[in-house]
Amino acid sequence: MLADGLRYFITGAGTGIGSGIARVAAREGAAVTIADLADEAGEALAEEIREQGGKALFVHCDVADYDQLKHCIDRSATEFGGLDVLVNNAGIFDNRVHPTPSLETMDPSHFRRMVEVNLIAQWMGAKFALPYLRASKNASIINAGSVAIFVAYPGGTIYGATKGGVAGLTKHLAVELAPDRIRVNCYCPGVTRTEAAALYIEQIGEEAFMRTNTAANLIPRIGEPEDLGNIVAFLASDRATFITGAIYLCDGGAMAWRGTMDLLGMQPASL
Ligand SMILES: NC(=O)c1ccc[n+]([C@@H]2O[C@H](COP(=O)([O-])OP(=O)(O)OC[C@H]3O[C@@H](n4cnc5c(N)ncnc54)[C@H](O)[C@@H]3O)[C@@H](O)[C@H]2O)c1
Repeated sequence: MLADGLRYFITGAGTGIGSGIARVAAREGAAVTIADLADEAGEALAEEIREQGGKALFVHCDVADYDQLKHCIDRSATEFGGLDVLVNNAGIFDNRVHPTPSLETMDPSHFRRMVEVNLIAQWMGAKFALPYLRASKNASIINAGSVAIFVAYPGGTIYGATKGGVAGLTKHLAVELAPDRIRVNCYCPGVTRTEAAALYIEQIGEEAFMRTNTAANLIPRIGEPEDLGNIVAFLASDRATFITGAIYLCDGGAMAWRGTMDLLGMQPASL
């Protein structure tokens, strides 16, 4: 199994992409710590994994809180006897800090909160995990990026700025931590089925959501949390020991070209 014996600490793992990462890692043999603000969802996921015979711990954690994040990483390492994989997954979108995000409506406090959660927390996680990762035989840090590293879209100005920072952070940490044999990589989801998507589907309907969000995908569906779980499980495993400083897209091919599926005579929503 890909994750046999590995100990993961995953932020924002109570729901969404993080929960997919936790499920795949646990299924592949890892002990997983689920760190999230959402207590109910996080506890339920840990329970689900334990019921299936896996090892899981939930810790309440605001990744933007220096002391809390440090405490949670220490607790995870104590519980499982060390740490091999830090997944800096927690992230928030502009509409999580302001209901109508724009240059006119938002102020620096909104920008700061997003930088704290999406970017500084990844750096802090690396800092607190470092002593444990140094002691691991296959250590890696895996950061959540986004297609917003590569393209812009409406309503994502601050988000895009923070995710651009994630790309730089990933490559620079890969350099800084190479002497410690700690690999640092990044995954970049395209539109993925999470709470945020569910909310949007509720507003505009499944058909319109699929049509607008798959139009540029060469693989005509949206992403599922476990698509990212599979990438993370690979990047953390001993099959990826030559991979560091890499940015992995998981977007159905949307970033590979500049077009929509109708150019190929295909109907994206119905495929
Ligand atoms: N869903 C997508 O389409 C998509 C696309 C590109 C990138 N991403 C990135 O993937 C990552 C996961 O996104 P998602 O869609 O699963 O998000 P989500 O909003 O569905 O879930 C995020 C989880 O993080 C938790 N969280 C939020 N703030 C936190 C904090 N301060 N401390 C601890 N936990 C916190 C939430 O409680 C939630 O459980 C993010 O970094 C996001 O930017 C997602």
